[in-house]
Parts: sequence; structure tokens; C-alpha cells
Amino acid sequence: MRELVAMTGRGVWIALVLLCMGLCVEAQIKLLYGPYLQNVKETEATFVWEATAPSVGWVEIAPNDGSHYYGEVRPRYFDTANGVKRTDTRHVVRVSGLRPGTTYRYRVYAQEVLQHEGHYVAYGRIAATDVYGREPLRFTTSDWSKPTTSFLMLNDIHGRQQHLAELLAAGQHAKQDLVIFNGDMVSTMKDKQGVFEGFMNESVRLFASEQPMYYARGNHETRGAFATAFQDYFSPKEPHLYYAFRQGPVCFIMLDSGEDKPDSDLEYYGITDYDSYRSEQAAWLETLANDPAFTTARFRIAICHMPPSTRPDVWHGQREVMEKFVPALNRLGIDLMLCGHEHRYEFEAPNEKIAFPVLTNSNETAVVATYDGQALEVQVVDTKGNVVERKRFVGQ
Ligand SMILES: [Fe+2]
Repeated sequence: MRELVAMTGRGVWIALVLLCMGLCVEAQIKLLYGPYLQNVKETEATFVWEATAPSVGWVEIAPNDGSHYYGEVRPRYFDTANGVKRTDTRHVVRVSGLRPGTTYRYRVYAQEVLQHEGHYVAYGRIAATDVYGREPLRFTTSDWSKPTTSFLMLNDIHGRQQHLAELLAAGQHAKQDLVIFNGDMVSTMKDKQGVFEGFMNESVRLFASEQPMYYARGNHETRGAFATAFQDYFSPKEPHLYYAFRQGPVCFIMLDSGEDKPDSDLEYYGITDYDSYRSEQAAWLETLANDPAFTTARFRIAICHMPPSTRPDVWHGQREVMEKFVPALNRLGIDLMLCGHEHRYEFEAPNEKIAFPVLTNSNETAVVATYDGQALEVQVVDTKGNVVERKRFVGQ
């Protein structure tokens, strides 16, 4: 009997040791989300990823020259704030000094920080993207001198990951230079998990680690307790969520149209101030008249979630887009505006109030466009790849 008790006791100890080992293995740091590219420019790119534990992070950059990734030490670029490596689960690194129109390989890392007491820092294990079991991740910088370019635009996905995948496939995203998200990718910014499970995990799996993605915020991304964290993940190194970027002959102006109802609406509980924010963007638009990225472009496109409207029954947000953004865009002489928000296709030809065409994409289609050096050829495709609309814009 005593032997049986002793054996049972040993069994309990063995089980506890195994459980502890299991927990230790379980607790080992991993990459949870990403990596994905943000704000790819001619000479710089930003990398975003998230680890399962507080960690320091860095990215290595290697030329795409046929050498083995393990052939030599690759330069490291750390996630720092004012010279100190940040301890966080989220990591953001902007790498500059790159060459235009050049393909690079990269690898991201996160090393767990177990303890930080006084001067002492204790580090744990390292997680990194795979460069041995699969090809290292690659990306290509923008090139203003490229004679042509192409892009795919999606909007109003509202967390439908399967739909996102179908539209990316229908629009042959791998053949396009870049992808644009034109707002309402989720219905509410509830938390980090909702963002990644709503559209970013699928985007990373399909393209966002290797193809540039540029994001214009929609009104639904302004909602929820996580809304103020939006820029931690998208355009995290940019001063604002509105910005202009260039690929080849095309300049893209990314606008943030804010919420659709007045700031005083009870639905916002007094937390919004979008009228001021849209005025700030209207003033910024005027500066593009002196920005070479804009002035030397052959074709200029504004990306804005909510379309402008002169309808008498229009809501406040769209009226603001009409009153604040359109006059500045008219003066700039842009060639096209691409919108979403309505969940239906609409096309408005230039008229006396809006001097440029406005194409509003539905929530069931993708816009695929190519600037061939002469004109922008636009196709609107459904989830099966059928072309449901075709337009050709010569520009001004
Ligand atoms: Fe929407």
C-alpha cells in the first residue's frame, strides 16, 4: 500500500513537471500578427508586426542579389524611441536610405524582455520570420520614373475576410503595384484582435507582407474603444492619416473623411471633432500645389471614403467633403476621385461643382486600374472576376 502511495506521488510530480514544460513551451514568444508593409516610398518603408510577449524588435534588410540570406551579417534596424529600444508587443520600424525601384529581402525579430529592473534587462527567447524553410520576405520600393503603374482598391469589407480574399483574387492583386484600402474594413474598432481577424490576417497571408498597402480610413474605423489606436498600426510613422504618395506617373492623395453625422450627434457621445479635422486637411491640400510628388505626376487621384455630394438630403460628413475638400481639389486640378461608403456603384461625371470624375466603388467589387502612360484604364470587377464596369480617364 505504501509503495502504491509513493508511486502515485511520483506520478503527480511527473505530471506537474510535464505540465510545467508544456506551459513553458506554450509561453515561448511567437510572432502573432504581421509583418506587413506600410508607407512604402522611393527610399524608405515601414514594417509593422506584433509578438505574443513584451519584447524588443528589429528588422534586417538584405539585397535581393542571389546571395543566401545566411551568407553574411545583415544590417539591423531597431524599433526605438529616441535612442532606446522599445519594449512592447507591437513593433514598428521605418527603414530609410533605400534605392528607388529596388527589391530587398527582409526578416523581422522580437526578443522577449523578461525583466527590466533599474539598469538590468533580462532577455528571453527570440522569434523571427522564417528565411530557411521558405523564401525570405521581399518588397520593392516605389519608383517615380516608372512609366506605368497599376493598383487594386477595396472598400467596405466590414470584416468579411472571405470576401476580401475573393476580391483580391478577382482583381489579380499579385499583378498590381499596390493595394489601396478605402475605408470600412471593419465595422467597429473594438480591439486589436478584431482588426486582425477582420481583415489584416488575411491581408498578411495573401499580400501585405510583400506588396505595399495604403489605407484611407473610413467612418467605421473611427468607432469603438480601439479607434484611437488606428495609427499605431496604419501609417504609424507618418505625421497624419492623410498624406500623398507617388508610384510611377500617378500621385495618390489619401484623405480621411471622418464620421458621417455631425460631431454633436448623440451617437458619438461628444468624443469626435471631425469638422476641425476636415478643415485641417483642406489647408494641407493647398500645400500639394508646391509638392513635386504632386506637381510632376502625370495623373492625380484622390482617395476618400465618403464621396462628395450636392444632394439636398446628404448627411453632414459628405456635405463637409463637398464644401471643404472639393474646392481645394478643383483648384489642384486632380484627374479622378475614388470613394466607397455607399455600398453601391455610382459614377459622377465632372460638372460645374465638381471638376473631376468621382467613381464610388460598391462593397461587392474591387477597382483595378492601370495607368499606361496615356490614360488610366479602370475595371470594376466582382468576386468572380467579371468586369461589371469599365472606364478610361485621360486626365486633365
Ligand atoms: Fe461601409
